[in-house]
Amino acid sequence: MAHNLQYDLNEPLNRAERYPQIAHDWASLFDTNAGWTANAANFCALLTAGFGWWWVGFYRVRSADSTLILGPFQGPVACTTIAKGRGVCGTAWDRDLPMIVPDVDQFPGHIACSSSSRSELVIPLHAMGEVVAVLDLDSVRLNDFGPQDLEALLPMLELLQSAWPVVVSGEVLD
Ligand code: SME
Repeated sequence: MAHNLQYDLNEPLNRAERYPQIAHDWASLFDTNAGWTANAANFCALLTAGFGWWWVGFYRVRSADSTLILGPFQGPVACTTIAKGRGVCGTAWDRDLPMIVPDVDQFPGHIACSSSSRSELVIPLHAMGEVVAVLDLDSVRLNDFGPQDLEALLPMLELLQSAWPVVVSGEVLD
């Protein structure tokens, strides 16, 4: 299926209008046959196209050493590993809670992968009752995220949670 998803980032960005558009496009973009990684990568591209955030990406939980590992993302190069409880991402995982950080400089232990990032939203993803990944959104604007983002993004993330890789006969289907 061909997709030509274009959003005008120059128009005043009204999230109340933009989110329904994005949710609609995400529903048609999501590919049940493609696995988690492919869909997560497209989700990052879709949010970047729709909102122009500085960094949009996933970190996946590696239980063996309690570490988050960099997953699909859009934006500048980033830290590849984050320990549980470290930074905003590691804290969201540890507490199993979404974290809205209006000013990253005020967040003790914030990991500054880029000094351009000023505010942040991190949302844990679940599978089989456990946190398996986090979505990390970084903005160059202070106080750029609020409850309305969480409310709009959580239903979209359900599709990705449903696509979390399962192990069948020893083979990881991703
Ligand atoms: N800011 C994050 C680290 C990840 S990067 O910004 C991409 C944190 O403190 O968890």
